[in-house]
Amino acid sequence: MKVLVATDKPFAKVAVDGIRKEIEGAGYELVLLEKYGEKSKLLSAVKDVDAIIIRSDVIDAEVLDAAKKLKIVVRAGAGYDNVDLEAATAHDVCVMNTPGQNSNAVAELAFGLMVMAVRNMYNGTSGTELKGKKLGIHAYGNVGRNVARIGKGFGMDIYAYDAYCPKDVIEADGVRAVASVEELYAMCDVVSVHIPATPETKNSINYGLVNRMPKGGLLVNTARKEVINETDLIQLMEERPDLKYMTDIMPAAHETFAAKFAGRYFSTPKKMGAQTAEANINAGIAAARQIVAFFKEGCEKFRVNKK
Ligand code: 3PG
Repeated sequence: MKVLVATDKPFAKVAVDGIRKEIEGAGYELVLLEKYGEKSKLLSAVKDVDAIIIRSDVIDAEVLDAAKKLKIVVRAGAGYDNVDLEAATAHDVCVMNTPGQNSNAVAELAFGLMVMAVRNMYNGTSGTELKGKKLGIHAYGNVGRNVARIGKGFGMDIYAYDAYCPKDVIEADGVRAVASVEELYAMCDVVSVHIPATPETKNSINYGLVNRMPKGGLLVNTARKEVINETDLIQLMEERPDLKYMTDIMPAAHETFAAKFAGRYFSTPKKMGAQTAEANINAGIAAARQIVAFFKEGCEKFRVNKK
């Protein structure tokens, strides 16, 4: 059995060592393809493998066509919008993610971005504090819960909106559940975005929604760039010089944001929310164990595509 780790953005070495231990311990072979850059290298690496571990690497119909022996793809992480689920089902390939394994890392980065913004990008001028501010968590999944926990430590008042998570689950954490996404944006000084990129959520953070934020509003995105309506946000930030946008996913219109909104816009050069040794170890080893359990026990826990 051959397991390919295909990571254009590599895991920390210690995580690769851990993955190798799991895979070789099960009697399988591990093949490593890092920083491959071009899709052609991925296409040739998948040819004879039975399983693939990926991060944000794109697995589309072309990759699945090339991977004749493939039975399982595990996205070491949360979001699986980079995998064509329908094509995977059509190819009889099981797709899984590793929910929760990298969420603390992403949540910590959200606060890194918040502090940077309220301290004026560390430019030496007097900024503000997070303590006492209202923090809105847009979607209360694994990352959202970690954001709530850390936000309490900062002394923030925490609010959350989630279309699918029951109110009592949110409120059991001492977080106020609000009834609508509009209300969340209207009442919170800081909104931290944690929705997945789906057909329903794409472009959903638009002019009307962000314009509800109070004066001095700060929008933090550690989720996906596709959920932001960039044209709307640019127009709104032009009209409202009080608004700030911090993101871990470089917008398609990064150059425009950077040129127009110096001092109130920042993007990491490469998505790095999950770029910690701990998150890489947690997600990478979970992925390896899920592959071993799939082959040895037929376990399909965490499967995300239809059969
Ligand atoms: C995720 O969906 O798990 C995060 O966005 C992390 O993605 P990455 O593995 O590409 O850093």
